Amino acid sequence: MAGTKRIRVGVVGCGAIGSEICKAIDGSKLESELELRFLVDNHPERIERLCESLKRKPEIIKYDSTGLEEILEAVDLVVECASQAAVREFVVPALRQGKDAMILSVGALLCEPGLFEEVERLSGTKGCKVYIPSGAVAGVDGLKSAAGLGDTGGGGDGGSGVRSVELTTRKPPRGFEGNKYVKQQGINLASIKQGKRAETLFEGSAREAVRHFPENVNVAASLSLAGLGPEATRVRIVADPSAVRNVHEVEVLGEFGRLFVRVENVPSRANPKTSFLAALSAIATLRGILSPLRVGT
Ligand SMILES: NC(=O)c1ccc[n+]([C@@H]2O[C@H](COP(=O)([O-])OP(=O)(O)OC[C@H]3O[C@@H](n4cnc5c(N)ncnc54)[C@H](O)[C@@H]3O)[C@@H](O)[C@H]2O)c1
Repeated sequence: MAGTKRIRVGVVGCGAIGSEICKAIDGSKLESELELRFLVDNHPERIERLCESLKRKPEIIKYDSTGLEEILEAVDLVVECASQAAVREFVVPALRQGKDAMILSVGALLCEPGLFEEVERLSGTKGCKVYIPSGAVAGVDGLKSAAGLGDTGGGGDGGSGVRSVELTTRKPPRGFEGNKYVKQQGINLASIKQGKRAETLFEGSAREAVRHFPENVNVAASLSLAGLGPEATRVRIVADPSAVRNVHEVEVLGEFGRLFVRVENVPSRANPKTSFLAALSAIATLRGILSPLRVGT
């Protein structure tokens, strides 16, 4: 993919993250090396709104995956920032055609049986790259470094240099309104609000957490993939009346010592469920693809 030619990009999903990515490409330094070739979204008005804000509009606009093989010919890299379903619908065919891909709906790789293995197999056999940005969480770099100790033969923990990975997510109680699991457990969010004391709603594996709290799925998936996998990665979910932002704390223990990271995420303006940092992390990944110099693991 590298060379003097611009990398041709197709973006699937023109919501909060997709719009930031396209605006970052349009009219910035990135534009000298990236060319936006297609946009896909099943809400035509979102594509229209985004196009209005772009100086250079892509030639190809699609509302679904019909004629996908043809439009994939026009690109080198597909950026998925749409939904879990879009990973199978767009990323798998892109890899089959030997195109590189970036996946934001990383939770799909944890939730959809066989999908991770298929993505891994296709990228290997077709010789293409799959990029998974850190998204809304931090600490993935340190976790990856620490977990790699097992590969060097130096890990003393049965193949990994990491003993434990724990993610604690804190949100204001209203952030859990409508959650089925919370209702089933008979947890009264209003009384947590009034009592002014934080309360743990869930503790368990990342695999279980994403089933009960799908809104936490991407962060849990990124950490699982970087570290110990979905069973061994532990997740705690807390309703905290004093929390203003969505807070993710990651604690990793291992041969290297202890890592503790806390991210207080500002929600994206276009979609309050999405952290602004997630879009920024996708844009940083694009810069990383282009840059000859790699900073960070
Ligand atoms: N990796 C992370 O840490 C992280 C963080 C936040 C969000 N995400 C994920 O990234 C994705 C995008 O987030 P967002 O906030 O931009 O969402 P959004 O809802 O603002 O935008 C998604 C857009 O994709 C479109 N879309 C969805 N499925 C589609 C399909 N099958 N075909 C065509 N268009 C489709 C929707 O119409 C919408 O316009 C979501 O899956 C979200 O869960 C990941």
